[in-house]
Amino acid sequence: MIDGGNRLEGEVVISGAKNSALPIIASTILNSNQVEITNCPDIHDVSIMFDILETLGCKVHKDKSSVRIDASNLNGFEIPENLMHEMRSSVIIVGAMLGRMKKCVFTYPGGCEIGARPINIHLEGFKQLGVSIVETQGKITCECEKLFGADITLDFPSVGATENLMLASCLADGITYIRNVAREPEIKDLQDFLNEMGAKIVGAGSNTIVVNGVKELHEASHTVIPDRIEAGTYLCMAVATRGNVLLKNVIPEHLASTIHKLRQIGAKVETKKDMISIRMINEILPVNIKTMPYPGFPTDMQSQFASLLTVSSGTSIIVETIFENRFKYVNELIRMGANITIEGRSAIIQGVEKLNGANVEMRDLRGGAGLVIAGLMASGTSEISGISFLERGYENFIKKLQLIGAKINKK
Ligand code: UD1
Repeated sequence: MIDGGNRLEGEVVISGAKNSALPIIASTILNSNQVEITNCPDIHDVSIMFDILETLGCKVHKDKSSVRIDASNLNGFEIPENLMHEMRSSVIIVGAMLGRMKKCVFTYPGGCEIGARPINIHLEGFKQLGVSIVETQGKITCECEKLFGADITLDFPSVGATENLMLASCLADGITYIRNVAREPEIKDLQDFLNEMGAKIVGAGSNTIVVNGVKELHEASHTVIPDRIEAGTYLCMAVATRGNVLLKNVIPEHLASTIHKLRQIGAKVETKKDMISIRMINEILPVNIKTMPYPGFPTDMQSQFASLLTVSSGTSIIVETIFENRFKYVNELIRMGANITIEGRSAIIQGVEKLNGANVEMRDLRGGAGLVIAGLMASGTSEISGISFLERGYENFIKKLQLIGAKINKK
């Protein structure tokens, strides 16, 4: 339940990045020694990843935002179907399993329904590393005697495929070149963690990653980078309420394209080493946005900006180029009084004077965050159902918002 119209003011400490923590936790499977991960966000997707590891025989010991993982007794090959269905990133386990066990059995992953989300690029890359892939009755079995370094070019810079191939090639025989890779900061974080465990990987952040296969990995400890999408979401909330908010534990460089758009819509944004402050006084100005792979504007910030732009002083166009089904929240915004037309992969948003509180429903994680932003701006009360989507990816979402003055409660 949200009572809209309250100005947000104060400090928010940003948690560890979901999209870093997930592949990093999966990659601990590669290591038969104990590892420690700190700044690990306490969110539902991370607990699903822990469940998968435990099912496969790993020991997971959590203490607040630290977790120790011992994969020495890894004994399973098969990822349970129910866990695979709950979260798309579960597919990242496959690369790690192949690296360590040379075998993995799984079903097609689930997760937020924001597009078809095939895994052909992952599977094509595995094949080039020497993996045989057999699909029967919805189950996929990946297997090999040994993994061999290869020269792989991805059809598209897929984040998940880049990570999966880094994991699979880490312990392979020889050198693997992965070209046309994703350049997201989370890829660099994964590279850093793998190297801390003794892997030999260079290139994350550029177009090509080179993995020099090693025999085994050793104990390590790693701190997950801050969540740039969580940070971006709070920045949008500050703008939505004409607020004044300071974010702590952030890497401003990772939010460059988001900050650029926030400044275009009229926000005053200042950055320091690990802090971002934002202030919004005037009306929201219209902007055009096209989602792109990093360092372009992130698809994961698309719906939050759409909500802001519903009350801008003109017409904005958002083009979604990454996922084909990421406008499901639009009908809910229209129920709140927004004027939005969808044309294929574009949303044309005509600014209206104000939104009105309404009963609306979340259908995915980031679309859900967008609806909360709409609720914070709207006049009156909004009841937003489906908050389990938010719990998948935002740590202490409601509490963090309450601390900066939002009138938000879980019913
Ligand atoms: C990751 C992020 C997600 C983010 C997305 C894009 C995690 C856990 N999730 O998702 O939050 O929105 O990157 O920045 O890190 N594709 C194929 N075949 C494949 C793989 C992908 O066609 O084998 C397509 C997808 O359908 C999509 C596009 O490539 O259209 C991008 O997907 P990808 O970069 O793989 O996203 P995820 O890793 O699933």
